[in-house]
Formats: sequence, C-alpha cells, structure tokens
Amino acid sequence: MNNKYIGVFDSGVGGLSAVKEIIKKMPDENIVYFGDTGRVPYGTRSNETITKYAISDMKFLKSHDIKLVVVACGTVSTVALPTLKDEFDIPIIGVVEPAAISACNATKNKKIGVIGTSGTIRSNKYEEQIKSIMPDALVKSIACPMFVPLVENNMADSEAAYLIAKDYLEDFISMGIDTLVLGCTHYPHLKNTIKKVLGNDVTLIDSGAATADFVLEYLTKNNLLCNKTFDEQYKYFVSDSVEGFSKIADVFLGRNIDKMVKKIDIERY
Ligand code: DGL
Repeated sequence: MNNKYIGVFDSGVGGLSAVKEIIKKMPDENIVYFGDTGRVPYGTRSNETITKYAISDMKFLKSHDIKLVVVACGTVSTVALPTLKDEFDIPIIGVVEPAAISACNATKNKKIGVIGTSGTIRSNKYEEQIKSIMPDALVKSIACPMFVPLVENNMADSEAAYLIAKDYLEDFISMGIDTLVLGCTHYPHLKNTIKKVLGNDVTLIDSGAATADFVLEYLTKNNLLCNKTFDEQYKYFVSDSVEGFSKIADVFLGRNIDKMVKKIDIERY
C-alpha cells in the first residue's frame, strides 16, 4: 500500500480526461493535478521548450508527496518522456503506450488514424508504438492544431469546431479507418464533433482513459494502491486564472472543483 498522491499534469484542462477516469476506476486514490494554463498550448512549440516546461511541471509536482506521475499530455509524452525518466527518480507513465495498445486491440481492419498536436505528430511516436505492436497496421497521422484552443475556450461542440474537424479529418474517411487515436488529451472533449464527421462506426481511443487502466495495473502489480483518502483528496493547481480553469473543469469532470483550484507561479520551478 502507498497513500501518497498521484501527480498528474498537462498544459491545461486536457489532462482532466485522464483524471476523470482515474477517479472512476480508483476512487480511493489521492490526486494532485497541475494544468499549465499560463503556457498552453505546448503542441505548437519546439521540442526544447516543451521539454523545459515539462521539467518545471515535474519539479512542481515533486514538491508534493507523490508516488507516481501521469504525464496526461500527448505532446510531452511523445516529445519529452525519455528525458523526464532520466531526470526524475519516480515512476512516470505517459499516454502513448496505453493508447497504442488500446488501438491495436480495437481495430479489425488494421487501418488506424492518429490525431494530435503538431509536436506529437512530428515525433511520429504513436505510429512507431502502434507498428511495434502490429507491424502490418496501416497508420495515418494528422496534426490538428486548432483543436486545443477550441477546447480551452469551451467551443468543442460549436459549428466552428465541426467545420474545422471536417477539414482535418476527411482523409480518414477515404482511407476507411475503423479506429482513431485521440493522441492529445484535450481531444476527448471533441468526441461528439468528431463522431459527427466520422460517424459512429469508427472507434475513438481516449488516450487519457487508456492510461488510467495502465495506472491501475501498475499500482496493483507494485502493491502501491491507496487505502486512505486524505481530507484534501483532490488538489488542482494552474499557472493562470483560477476562474477560467474552474469553469471548464466543472464541465469536463462533471463536478464542481471551484474551491480546490489554486494558482501557482510555475516560473519558480
Ligand atoms: N493536452 C496536450 C496533449 O495531449 C497538450 C495540448 C497543447 O497544449 O497543445 O498534447
């Protein structure tokens, strides 16, 4: 047993898709979340900047009593995970491997689409991971840089989101994919819009949700599950406005977290 917190971070609200699933699957766990809302988006930045931001996010989380870090960000998971694993002496779980395994389990025709931020698609990590499990899979990857701002601005179900999604995703229809990896943790919030474009027959792989299963398996295998929830079971931190984050977070998590969110100065870490 280990009653320390699970640390989770992302550039903004996206990682809450992983938190939601961790809460559902492991209701006794204590969670500390950091959303780097002052520096979002990560996905359009250089690998150096993404890595620098990820290191300070890790340092902040490590200032809490944590037993494990979930990198609930596709961009950091694809660009900076090996560096983080080298630099920090704590178990770190990213979203790429869990999502790739889920996609390979889900596909029937072995035609898999991957969407993510520009940084994620540039890294080619999802494709590599899928091919290492299923070498004969046909994988097509498309960067969708407009998706994160739509989600961060609570416009995931808007007409504008639909038109942008149509533009990004149309090639997947002609290719006939049966599975699409939502390689950015912001994207599950666009599920309805994506389904409107691709129809209901394409299985959408939520990278955050897939990662929650991985976390459960890791904690169980290593005897690290928690059996004592703290009074402050969930702590949320952001690097910009608390109000903006809380409002969107309430919708994403389906619960009110107003009083649990605090602003910190990430430049100190
Ligand atoms: N949610 C993140 C991801 O999974 C980051 C998106 C961004 O900040 O660009 O890639």
